[in-house]
Parts: sequence; structure tokens; C-alpha cells
Amino acid sequence: MTFHVLVPDSVHQKAIDILKASAGIVVSAPGRMERAALLNAVAEAHGLIIRSGVSADAELIRAAPQLKAIARAGVGVDNVDLEAASKHGIIVMNSPGGNTISTAEHTFGLMIALSRHIPQGHQSLAQGRWDRKAFSGVELKGKTLGIIGLGRIGQAIAARAQAFEMTVIAHDPYLPSAIAEAVNVPLLSLESVYVRADFLTLHAMVTDETRGMINADTISAMKDGVRIINAARGALIRSADLAAALTSGKVAGAALDVYETEPPPADHPLIGLPNVLHTPHLAASTADAQVTVAVEAAQLVIDFLLHGKAENVCNPAENSS
Ligand code: MLT
Repeated sequence: MTFHVLVPDSVHQKAIDILKASAGIVVSAPGRMERAALLNAVAEAHGLIIRSGVSADAELIRAAPQLKAIARAGVGVDNVDLEAASKHGIIVMNSPGGNTISTAEHTFGLMIALSRHIPQGHQSLAQGRWDRKAFSGVELKGKTLGIIGLGRIGQAIAARAQAFEMTVIAHDPYLPSAIAEAVNVPLLSLESVYVRADFLTLHAMVTDETRGMINADTISAMKDGVRIINAARGALIRSADLAAALTSGKVAGAALDVYETEPPPADHPLIGLPNVLHTPHLAASTADAQVTVAVEAAQLVIDFLLHGKAENVCNPAENSS
């Protein structure tokens, strides 16, 4: 049997080459597609490889009667309807390790840029000004970094922050304490992290529990002048509440790589505030990470379609309850 694999997103060429070289796989890699063309093309597909730009929702899944496997080149599967996939017997897999370092490095870059006003200084000089006073910053050394979610990315950030002589604390209700001890980061309650952190960085998934976790109430429990970094998911923050706290000065600054809807609307309350830095969901966008996650995703699809081997499964089996 020949399996058709559709790659309707910009996924590294190495992954396409690996798929092409696999006997029994036929690959179609048109890159980003219009929705109607995608729904048409997916009808033939047994395997689908996507990044965050493709919504594998219930409509797409209904349009793909042959589909057996979806592989996400990256971590987040919030663009996949996991329930619909399970209902149709489709396995969803991700490649969680490949972009850890890129995401940690980007987060760290945001934290430094935020503490030293680097983008604002650049912009000011580019506009012909020489304003040293307005952009005086703070050191990271001696400050407390609170990490919400001490998984792979959180741990990589902790190691970098420790090298910068920061005090690192974290909240993670799912992490075994032995792992936190091994990386020398105390696990505290959310409230204790909020009260103590000078910098707060989010690395949690969006769940019913974490959606909007940064809101007026939780911000009021934080240190005055806290700086918040979010390179995880936009929905963790109630944007209007954070905007109000940035305007009042309760929060000194925020650096954001992610937004509840991407791209964010022009009237997004956080965009354009003078103490907010933005990047357009770039944390995992490095040459290095994109090769690793793409190759891993290709291998996951090959292993599943040709050998029935499933790894990094993100959705429950159809008949599990
Ligand atoms: C991920 O979930 O892997 C990152 O947010 C990067 C991406 O969405 O491409």
C-alpha cells in the first residue's frame, strides 16, 4: 500500500527529503494553502504534517476520511481538535524536544531586551535621537525569576538565569520534586511565586485552569514593578488586565511572543504600549529548531504509517474513556 502524506505548511526540506526517500510514502508539500484547497487536498491524505499555521479542526478532520496520523512539527497541539481526531481514529503526535533551546534562548533574549529597553533604544537612535536617560534599565543579577511551568523549556531558562546569577523559583504542579531539586529550583505555590518574582516567565499549556491566569486579581498579588514575559501561549494572559497594569505602572514591562489570536488584531490592547515588546511568535523560529522538529515529525509519520509505531501521542485512543 502507498501512503499519501500532505505537508501544507513551511516545514524544513530535510523532512520532505526523508519522506520522499521512504518506500511506500508519497509526499505532497505545497507549503501554505488556502483553506478550500487544503480541505480538498487532505481528502487523499493518510498523514499530515503541520506547524502552528494550520488549523486541524473538526472540519478538516471530516474532510480527511483516509487520515491516520497528524504530526505537529513543534510542541503545541492547540491547533488540532484532539477530540475530533480521536473520534475518527486519527493519532496526533508532536515533537516536543526539538525547539526547547530556541524557545528558551528567545525568552531570555526578551528578558534582557525588556530589562535594558533595547528595542526602544534602537528605535530612538534610528529616529535620530540620542536619549540615554530615558532607557536606563535594571540588572538581572540578584533579581528573582519566577517560572510558571518547569518543563523542558522552563528548565533550560532556569539554567541560563542561574548563570546570570538570578534567584530562580518556579511553580509546576505536575513536575516531580526530584527533577526540580536536580536543577536546583525550588517549587513554590503560585501565590509565593507571584509575591516574590521580579521577572515572571510563562511556560504552561492553556487548560481550563491556566487560561487567563495572568489577570487583574493575580497581578494585584505580584510585586510592584514586576516584568512579565510570555513566549508560551497568548491565552494565558487577560490582555486588557495586563494593559491596565502596564499603564498604571504596577507592571513595569511585558515582552510577548504569543497572542490569543495570531496574528493579533490591530486594536489589541497590549500592542503599541511603550513598555511592551513584541515579537511575532518567533521563539521556535531558528534554523536549528526547524530542522529538528521537522525531521522528528516526518519520522513520527513514517514510523506510524509504515510500522504502526506511535510515539509522543497527544490524544486519547478512540475507545478510551
Ligand atoms: C510550539 O508549540 O512548538 C511553538 O509555539 C512553536 C510553533 O508553534 O511553531
